[in-house]
Amino acid sequence: PIQILRTIAELRFWRREQLVKGLAVGLVPTMGALHAGHMRLVQSSMRMNDKTVVSIFVNPSQFAPSEDLASYPRDFDADIEQLASLEGDDGARVDVVFAPRVDEMYPNGIPLNVAEQKGAFVTVHGLSEQLEGKIRPHFFRGVATVVSKLLNIVTPDRVYFGQKDVQQTVVVKRLVQDLCSGTVVHVVPTSRDANGLALSSRNAYLTDQTKQDAAVIFKGLQNATMVYRQNTSADKIIDAVVLTITEKFDKNDIEYVSVNDKDTLEELQTVHPLKGAIVSLAVRVPNRFGGKTRLIDNILL
Ligand code: PAJ
Repeated sequence: PIQILRTIAELRFWRREQLVKGLAVGLVPTMGALHAGHMRLVQSSMRMNDKTVVSIFVNPSQFAPSEDLASYPRDFDADIEQLASLEGDDGARVDVVFAPRVDEMYPNGIPLNVAEQKGAFVTVHGLSEQLEGKIRPHFFRGVATVVSKLLNIVTPDRVYFGQKDVQQTVVVKRLVQDLCSGTVVHVVPTSRDANGLALSSRNAYLTDQTKQDAAVIFKGLQNATMVYRQNTSADKIIDAVVLTITEKFDKNDIEYVSVNDKDTLEELQTVHPLKGAIVSLAVRVPNRFGGKTRLIDNILL
C-alpha cells in the first residue's frame, strides 16, 4: 500500500532509510486532481528509480488572490486510487504520497501582498517575467519557492516535470543549477486527449463542446511546425497559429502566441534551424460556469 505522509519529519525519516539501503528516489510534484498526464510522469519515475514519491500540494503562493485557489479541483481519495492502480513492468509502484498541510510548508505564513512578504522566497530572475509570468506576475516565484522546498525535503535523485508547462521546466532547470541542487530534472512529453487537447486538471472546468473546439489549439501548433518547414519567421509561424485558433475562439481571447528560445526564453524574430524554439500560447476559452478558463500549450520546433 501507498504510505501517505503529512509531515516533513516523517518524509525525512523515510528518505534516510532509502539512502541507507542505497535506493534511488524519484519525485513527482503535483497539485493533485491527477489525470493521465500526471500518471505518465509517475510511470517515468517508477521506470528510472527504485522508489517514487508523489507530492500532492495545492501551493497557495503560486495563486494570485484573483485566481482559483479555493475552487481548484481537489479529490484526494481518487488521486490515491489512481496512483495505487499503477504498476510498472517490474512490479514497481508509488511508494509514498507526500501531502503536507499548508502550515507545514509555510510555517511563517504567506502574506497576501507580495510587497509585504518577509522571509525566504525563491525568484528565478529573467525567466519568470515573460509569457506566463507577464499575465501571472508572482506565479513562478510561488512555483520556484515550493519546488525548492520539496527538493530540500525529499532530496530526490530525479524530479519529473511535464513539457505541458514549458516555462516551468525552464525555471526549474535554472533553479536547480543556480542553487546547486544535486537532483536531475527530467521533462516528460505532453499527454493529450484523442482530439489533441493537452490534459490538465483545469479541463474539469470545460464543457464537452469547448473540449471539442479546443482541438484547434493543438492543430494550430502542428500548423506552426508545418509553416516552420518553409519559413523561419516568427511572425509567419504565429500568424498560422492564430488563424487556426480563431476558427473556434475569439481573437481577443488569445492572450499570447510567442516564439522563444528554449533556454533563455528570449523572444525570437526568426528561428535558428540548429537551435529550434518553443512556440507557446495561452487562450481563454468558455467554461461551464459561464466564464472563461485559461488553457496553455506549446510545441518545440
Ligand atoms: P500540476 O498542474 O498538478 O502539474 C504537475 C506536473 O504534471 C507538472 O510538471 C505538469 O507540467 C505536469 N503535467 C500536467 N499536465 C500534463 C500533461 N498534459 N502532459 C504532461 N505533463 C503534464 O505544475 C504544477 O502542478 C505545479 O506548478 C507544481 C510543479 C506541482 C508546483 O506547485
